[in-house]
Amino acid sequence: NWTMESFIDKEIERIRQIVGPNGKVVGAVSGGVDSTVAARLMKEAIGDRFHAILVDNGVMRLNECETVKKVLGDHLGINLKVVDAADMFLDRLKGVTDPERKRKIIGNTFIEVFESESLKIDQETKEGGHGQIEYLLQGTLYPDVIESISFKGPSATIKTHHNVGGLLEDMKLKLIEPLRELFKDEVRELGKVLKVDEDLIWRHPFPGPGIAIRVLGEVTPSQVAIARAADHIYIDEIKKAGLYRKISQAYAALLPVKAVGVMGDRRTYEQVIVLRAVETTDFMTADWYPFPYDILKKISNRIINEVKGVNRVVYDISSKPPATIEW
Ligand code: XMP
Repeated sequence: NWTMESFIDKEIERIRQIVGPNGKVVGAVSGGVDSTVAARLMKEAIGDRFHAILVDNGVMRLNECETVKKVLGDHLGINLKVVDAADMFLDRLKGVTDPERKRKIIGNTFIEVFESESLKIDQETKEGGHGQIEYLLQGTLYPDVIESISFKGPSATIKTHHNVGGLLEDMKLKLIEPLRELFKDEVRELGKVLKVDEDLIWRHPFPGPGIAIRVLGEVTPSQVAIARAADHIYIDEIKKAGLYRKISQAYAALLPVKAVGVMGDRRTYEQVIVLRAVETTDFMTADWYPFPYDILKKISNRIINEVKGVNRVVYDISSKPPATIEW
């Protein structure tokens, strides 16, 4: 009979068999539940021969890098390398407004940075006389496996970020996917048994292209800063209201328009933040979340008072379909 404990034992044994006594594995982590649980399992199986890489793409959430470093590196003891590539990503995003182009640029740059870091680790570890890097860890879940086989809809584009085919070819890496038989709730349970932080286990999904697709129009450092600050307040208030786990995904986006406002006896002409919150089980369809008005009021007041450059906050009441979750 199947238990989480027996799954862990079996999977650790399988990983050790595949990787061998000296083999090395690289994997990208994002701070999300899938990549973290996969990394945690790998650490349990082969210790420091698993090398986790976190690419700071400049469009992560506020304090995200530090948090991931703390939780994965310090707390879970995973061998973690943080690569600051923010300037490179932001530079390539200059002048780009089309969301699909943003996704492609970020996806390609990510692969480039990840590959170059993996090669560096490969070189550094070669001297020790141990094996080279042969495997790439991916936190693929069962629904991803099914989807990539049977569904050729918009998600084919959605998953462009995760397309690491080139990486596998260039470096001759083989894939290792310890979560490929699990559903999301099982990954969360696995994470709990492996003592991964509760906060992290219940995190809302966050898209690979991050805040770049939540800043509509051109992505500049100052626009990213506004979206980040607003999102941080929004999520903070959702947590304070005890609603974080009820909502499947929430975020604040920055619109590329200016609206008229008034402050004291002067007119202002500033930007608009849109709040999105949805309930969904599969992310293919979703309903907007019916916030109590007093909570919306508090969030709106805080964002307008605390985030410079914003004089208006609106709430998105569109379901999916026809609207998508991201803008
Ligand atoms: P949509 O906007 O299509 O989103 O309703 C469905 C789910 O997918 C996430 N999403 C992405 N994730 N790269 C990702 O890694 C992307 O380009 C991307 N676009 C959307 C979205 O956050 C939601 O959870």
